[in-house]
Amino acid sequence: MEYSAGDSMKNKRKKIGIFDSGIGGITVLKEILSLAPDADMVYLGDCARLPYGTKSPKTIIRYSLQCAGFLVSKDIDMLVVACNTASSHALPALQEAFRIPVVGVVASGSKAAIDAGGRRIGVIGTPSTIRSRAYDTALRAISPDVQVLSKACPLFVPLVEEGWCDDAVTEQVAHRYLDDLLHEGIDTLLLGCTHYPLLKGVISRVAGNGVCIVDSAVSTARAVAELGGARRSPGGEQSVVYYLSDISERFIELGEIFLGRKMKDVYEVDLCV
Ligand code: DGL
Repeated sequence: MEYSAGDSMKNKRKKIGIFDSGIGGITVLKEILSLAPDADMVYLGDCARLPYGTKSPKTIIRYSLQCAGFLVSKDIDMLVVACNTASSHALPALQEAFRIPVVGVVASGSKAAIDAGGRRIGVIGTPSTIRSRAYDTALRAISPDVQVLSKACPLFVPLVEEGWCDDAVTEQVAHRYLDDLLHEGIDTLLLGCTHYPLLKGVISRVAGNGVCIVDSAVSTARAVAELGGARRSPGGEQSVVYYLSDISERFIELGEIFLGRKMKDVYEVDLCV
């Protein structure tokens, strides 16, 4: 089935739809908000079906099409796939199904790592993202002789969702995942999951000073701006509406801390209907 963006009047306020499996996409939302103060946002967190990162490509594509279909029904002008797992597997399917610009996080994250001078790049992400080799492909497309070392870090997502972003247990887990990459002499560590920037403090401590930490949130927000999604438009108050497939107090509590603003309009949605 094909969907279109609906209203395309020139002076219409921009509306940007963003989705992630949970709270991780908030890191991307925050950067887009800082670049696009006059664009309206619709955030969808598919919390009921989190994690995506341990699921099969087929299921990730199906979930992603459902998330995007819901956001397009809200009359968005642009779709931001603020989930590396969904970007790694579902971007072509989303771009084929929807007639609006679709921005993923893998290309912009890869560009940011190369721009930061990465030559021996450690990529961390969910098992599904790492298995897809999407980052290897994107990094080598920009810089064919770059060295890429990858590591799946499945426990990082539940630690973030639990709010243990700066915790001794998280630091221990980070050592377990990262020490091998660090011994391999990486110069750059690419955070290939939108949940991971919320662990930046711990990850930076474990990685030490010699490793440049790169995440895709800022570069994705810039890509959105370049596509015109962040253009200032006249009049009206900025709004962010949140749809969650499962509402928990913890999501709101953590979301408000990570975002640094109140989450006022939060609604529950059933994506399976
Ligand atoms: N935030 C998602 C990503 O960027 C992963 C979370 C999950 O496994 O659902 O890949």
